[in-house]
Amino acid sequence: MPPMQLTSACIEDLVLKMSMARDLDEIMTAVRQSARDLIGADGISFVLKDNDCCYYADEDAIGPLWKGQRFPIQSCLSGFAMLQGKVVVINDIFRDGRFPIDAYANTFVKSLVIVPVRQDDPVGAIGAYWSKLDGPSPESIERLERIANTAAVAMTNVALIKSLAAAKEEAAQARDAMILAMASLAETRDHETGDHIRRTQHYVRALAEALQEQEAYAEQLSDEVVDLLYKSAPLHDIGKVGIPDCILLKPGKLEPEEFEVMKTHAELGHAAIATAERYMSSTTPFLSLAKEIAHTHHEKWNGTGYPRGLKGEEIPIGGRIMAIADVYDALVSARIYKPALPHEEAVDIIIKDSGEHFDPKLVQVFSKIAPKFEEIHRAFAKGH
Ligand SMILES: [Fe+2]
Ligand SMILES: [Fe+2]
Repeated sequence: MPPMQLTSACIEDLVLKMSMARDLDEIMTAVRQSARDLIGADGISFVLKDNDCCYYADEDAIGPLWKGQRFPIQSCLSGFAMLQGKVVVINDIFRDGRFPIDAYANTFVKSLVIVPVRQDDPVGAIGAYWSKLDGPSPESIERLERIANTAAVAMTNVALIKSLAAAKEEAAQARDAMILAMASLAETRDHETGDHIRRTQHYVRALAEALQEQEAYAEQLSDEVVDLLYKSAPLHDIGKVGIPDCILLKPGKLEPEEFEVMKTHAELGHAAIATAERYMSSTTPFLSLAKEIAHTHHEKWNGTGYPRGLKGEEIPIGGRIMAIADVYDALVSARIYKPALPHEEAVDIIIKDSGEHFDPKLVQVFSKIAPKFEEIHRAFAKGH
């Protein structure tokens, strides 16, 4: 390849590397590794604007320049290039007379070109230096400008990536806080619910993780979905907030008509989360999963559950997993109207109800990992 083509191929390579950079270090590394050769300079420096200072962040040169040093923006050439938003070309540093030259006295530099990074509102500058006079040729200036322009785009990209990541993190924190707030609302209404919420969340994750190991569920239950199941599970009974105290807190078994009211908590929960979705004017995987679980955790495999009487795989996997977690916890927990059943008995009841209340494939996996459920129940029992 003739040298000119070789150079333009190398410039393309540098441009590509900078465009793909995920952080500032990667941008500077790309410049350090190839800019000097591309321009035919004896030194390259990468300078960042740091408030009122120029910070010489990186360099590649035949002799030391100013790496790691800071100079006031008013008294350095890179600062001048940044403040003016203009390219500075000096063919003989000791004869130019426009700028103080003290900083160059102990360096090899005799001529230079400095290009601001992002001409309007510069964020830095890239300098090229020569140990001979008249180093900067029109070609080298043009190439340095191209490199600086690419660095500007790359730095903007990096800033955007960073602020996106921060916004994502903030949204995730707000979501977690909202779940806790909503779940604790349910908890203040019904003291039994608090521990129940925490335990079911862990049962759900244990069962979902065991299902992940089965090929049939591996795709459906990705790590992300399992995490979302875990996080949205606390909202499964959120609809209980809408159940009157006389029914929710009744010390004893519910009359049939009271039970009908209690059953509405599945629809109420679904509606509450759907309202949240409407306020967001779009759904998120988290909200749609939470809504699904609230709506379907009382459906039964044989179609006799509520509120919609869904059957078999019409019931979403989250609802089917939650059904097992929910019933197991109810069985092994004492209520005013019933004692707690021992773990083994609760497991037997669930196994017997396989294909009736519960998805048989899920019950199979549950029966294998049932000891984990027992552990969780013990760990999150009252008083812990
Ligand atoms: Fe429920
Ligand atoms: Fe529940």
